Amino acid sequence: MDILHYQKDFINYLESKQWVSEPKNLYEPIDYIIKLGGKRIRPVLTLMAADIFSNDYKKALPAALAVEVFHNFTLIHDDIMDAAPLRRGKATVHEKWDTNTGILSGDAMLILAYQYFENYEPVVFQKLAQLFSKTALEVCDGQQLDVDFETRNDVTISEYINMIRLKTSVLVAAALKMGAIVAETNDENANLIYDFGLNLGLAFQLQDDYLDAFGNPETFGKQIGGDIIENKKTFLYLKALEVSNKNDNAKLKSFYSQKLVENTTKIIEVKEIFVENNIPSLIKEKIESYTEKAFTTLIKMDISNESKQNLKSFGLWLMNRSV
Ligand code: IPE
Ligand code: IPE
Ligand code: MG
Ligand code: MG
Ligand code: MG
Repeated sequence: MDILHYQKDFINYLESKQWVSEPKNLYEPIDYIIKLGGKRIRPVLTLMAADIFSNDYKKALPAALAVEVFHNFTLIHDDIMDAAPLRRGKATVHEKWDTNTGILSGDAMLILAYQYFENYEPVVFQKLAQLFSKTALEVCDGQQLDVDFETRNDVTISEYINMIRLKTSVLVAAALKMGAIVAETNDENANLIYDFGLNLGLAFQLQDDYLDAFGNPETFGKQIGGDIIENKKTFLYLKALEVSNKNDNAKLKSFYSQKLVENTTKIIEVKEIFVENNIPSLIKEKIESYTEKAFTTLIKMDISNESKQNLKSFGLWLMNRSV
């Protein structure tokens, strides 16, 4: 079945829920962010995995919703932490309301996410809750490292990869494994699909970093250059430091040692350095290599060729996205 089909089923399920109740200032921001859209990658992965390992993927809808609500909670808090004005082409929650609203609505979403597991029987419930708690803590670890790196000037590429594994990949991997858990497949399958997701998630975050600087502002939906403004130590920056000459190195380091009010020049000049040093094609190579690594995990999996093909198409689609 194709991705759009899972997406449609998921959105119907999501829209069948009542999101707004009292107090309005707590629930309206939840309704707002949830209905802003987004690619719905993680719930689609949960449904796909459940479909691969069972004949009733709809059983996985509550788990898929848990993942998506958790993801949207992390976005609200991430946008506060990154001082981001735009999300999915609209004002971020803390801009439209305020920071306190973003904090509390986010907190409520984290609890809501756990509540959806109550739809499952004890054995499945426990496995889901265990995986989810571990994953959610890892996301916090990754987010803290991401922020710590802003003010460090000795971050290595391998530290960066570890950071994006934590803040992003583990949730992509867990989304797939949750589908496998709901389908009650064996641990070997569940772990292999998790590994597939980990590598795909690394490729996904690298692509996110690329788009943050080089995406089309008309369609990307987030502020272009946000990572540059915030001095994020992305692969673009770290690779540029590795391959560029002394002059570019000094310029980069100087730009990334300060936070400015007016960022137009900084963004233009930093992007110029990235382009002159061929960083866009170096990051694309890295994205392809993690995607390939994900595909090699598929070879080991005991599932139909059609299922492998579906997971592969999803990976390729993710790698070539522009939002
Ligand atoms: C954004 O995730 C946050 C990252 C981990 C890069 P998505 O790119 O999946 O965001 P939406 O849900 O489609 O808007
Ligand atoms: C996001 O990383 C990771 C989480 C939300 C946990 P980013 O900060 O790069 O995500 P975007 O670019 O704001 O979506
Ligand atoms: Mg962000
Ligand atoms: Mg962030
Ligand atoms: Mg980003």
